[in-house]
Amino acid sequence: MATGLRAMRSAVKQMPGAVPAYRYMRARLFGQAVRRRIFEHYYLTNAWGDAESRSGCGSNLPETAVIRAELPRLLRQLRVTSLLDAPCGDFHWMQTVDLGAIAYIGADIVEPLVAANQRRYGGPSRRFLRLDLVRDELPPVDLILCRDLLVHLCFTEIHAAIRNLRRSGATWLLTTTYPTRAANDDTATGGWRRLNLERAPFGFAKPAALIDEHCTEEGGRRRDKSLALWRIADLPQRVPSLQFRYRWPGLARPREDCALPASG
Ligand SMILES: C[S@@+](CC[C@H](N)C(=O)[O-])C[C@H]1O[C@@H](n2cnc3c(N)ncnc32)[C@H](O)[C@@H]1O
Repeated sequence: MATGLRAMRSAVKQMPGAVPAYRYMRARLFGQAVRRRIFEHYYLTNAWGDAESRSGCGSNLPETAVIRAELPRLLRQLRVTSLLDAPCGDFHWMQTVDLGAIAYIGADIVEPLVAANQRRYGGPSRRFLRLDLVRDELPPVDLILCRDLLVHLCFTEIHAAIRNLRRSGATWLLTTTYPTRAANDDTATGGWRRLNLERAPFGFAKPAALIDEHCTEEGGRRRDKSLALWRIADLPQRVPSLQFRYRWPGLARPREDCALPASG
């Protein structure tokens, strides 16, 4: 009986489009609860394992030295007056950034994290919201900073998040990309892999600006990690191509850049 079921499941998996369709339905039906549970677990157990930041080693002070210096300059250049930092994580590095008079909203899917941030760092021009970037309505702002999130989501949820960003009416998106990565792999939400947003299945144009983070994680293997700037209205509306490499998360060859739990 069990063997028959296994054989049927594996036959269904071979059918073209069956796996993406299953994932799409699962994400639609249970996605938010699953996302919340995964990332709440990471936060509560410090599963990304950094000594400084619950958001992982990519969020500690040495790894954010370049962006902490560059971000205020870029925001000034763009005349940004309101910023949505989604996800904000534990606000560890951002608390050191001089945002001047910019109205700051930090948002994250993890409720206890948001509550702790609001208690510790909330103020007249700084508030924190629980919000799922994949589907919740986003507050109207000039710029959305989305650092180190899409790399943790499956393709279906990334596309949903991009559609949600477009609905927000914000002008700019500043987000993580790895511009030298040749091709993008799918992963289960909660995993991690490098993504190049200029490649399929995203096909973003050349960014308007690029901040190379000078990332030193994994002995320099993530050295092209960057924050790239795009006008949200210019983001591609449709999936440009399905020429990405598909693979089952966790079953493919061991990879340096797709571990679970992964550093944030
Ligand atoms: C690696 S941390 C990065 C945090 C922050 N951007 C930084 O640079 O420190 C990833 C964060 O994404 C949050 N997250 C995961 N899925 C999310 C979603 N769908 N909407 C909003 N936040 C989400 C997690 O709770 C976690 O705090």
